[in-house]
Amino acid sequence: MKQIDVILTKSRSYPIFITDKDFSELGETIKNFTLGSDAFIITNANIHKLYADDLRKAFNRNGIQSHFYKIKDSEQSKSVTEYIKTVTKISSIDVKKKLFLVALGGGVVGDLCGFVAATYKRGIPYVQVPTTLLAQVDSSIGGKTAIDLPSGKNLIGAFFHPVLVYSNINLLKSLPIRQIKSGLAEVIKYGIILDPKLFEFLEKNQQKILNRDHDSLKYIISQSSRIKAYVVSVDEKETKGFRTILNFGHTIGHALETANKYSNLTHGEAITMGMVGACEIASELGLLRQSDLFRMTSLLQLIKLPEKALKIDLKAILDAFSRDKKFIHGKIRMVLPTRIGHVIVADDIPFKLIKKIIQKQVRIYNGN
Ligand SMILES: NC(=O)c1ccc[n+]([C@@H]2O[C@H](COP(=O)([O-])OP(=O)(O)OC[C@H]3O[C@@H](n4cnc5c(N)ncnc54)[C@H](O)[C@@H]3O)[C@@H](O)[C@H]2O)c1
Ligand SMILES: [Zn+2]
Repeated sequence: MKQIDVILTKSRSYPIFITDKDFSELGETIKNFTLGSDAFIITNANIHKLYADDLRKAFNRNGIQSHFYKIKDSEQSKSVTEYIKTVTKISSIDVKKKLFLVALGGGVVGDLCGFVAATYKRGIPYVQVPTTLLAQVDSSIGGKTAIDLPSGKNLIGAFFHPVLVYSNINLLKSLPIRQIKSGLAEVIKYGIILDPKLFEFLEKNQQKILNRDHDSLKYIISQSSRIKAYVVSVDEKETKGFRTILNFGHTIGHALETANKYSNLTHGEAITMGMVGACEIASELGLLRQSDLFRMTSLLQLIKLPEKALKIDLKAILDAFSRDKKFIHGKIRMVLPTRIGHVIVADDIPFKLIKKIIQKQVRIYNGN
């Protein structure tokens, strides 16, 4: 079991374990953290069918009682309605017990569970057991927890870190290839913003990764976790301007997700379009060489958008954009690449330029 630490002040640091053992190890690990007698495990029916029995047995062997709670398998579960249902259920069983939460799932389960943990009784401990590549490399680390509003993603949230993250590579064996690619989008992001070596590794080993080669997955999960842990350790609450670089691709990406009502695009697909857009904007502004633009967009082509995924509605995207918190007086803040492994945060991107780039992308994806 490999360990990477997220270093925070006031003894809030926590480990990310990267492993390929079975759940017995997780049972023992959690027991050693003495979190409580009862685990309230948030998951969905799909993941429950695959992994609940093993997890229950592992917890049982270590004297921990499991209470599974299944949410709908959709971004729509990151909602106020689901939040209230979940805390109501927790409070109904939280009688004479020492309860902790477990997020067994992808980013949707993780974000909701984290927000519930942050707010129920002003905060109770929780463990992240990420089951998607995206959650293992990104969403389970860093303490950003949130639910959505119809008007925008992650508009209600809190910073609240898990007690530990347990990333098991074996869980990715059942993950559909579309979801592997979706997680890969965040890994490519790390390569572009901070790590030319990781970027080159991805260029050279694309096929192996898509074939779920164990060592390649282990490398990209470890390297990504290390980068995310580092960025979060330096700028935990995004107050120093450094954590902002993780938003590369997310300004356009979030607008797309909002415009699509979170329905037909994965998060990775949306931010892929966002990253391509940001690369093209950087190139138009003379910040990025053609050769780097080509390498970035070529690698990003790995994450193909689903054939009939979107009839993208340009007006809806532009509406979502103008409600973005980074949109001030017709200018917008964006993370732009300047070379492989380096980005800048630009504060004054004219909305006209963004509109032009989005229009181009919409034309390409809508096939005209
Ligand atoms: N908090 C953060 O810092 C952060 C960072 C990035 C993304 N996010 C959020 O994460 C969410 C996206 O997460 P996601 O991409 O993991 O999507 P997801 O949680 O919707 O999971 C994707 C799909 O994979 C299935 N699945 C999960 N694990 C599986 C497994 N092991 N085997 C088979 N199927 C499995 C799920 O049932 C689901 O259908 C978005 O809401 C996004 O905003 C948060
Ligand atoms: Zn993301």
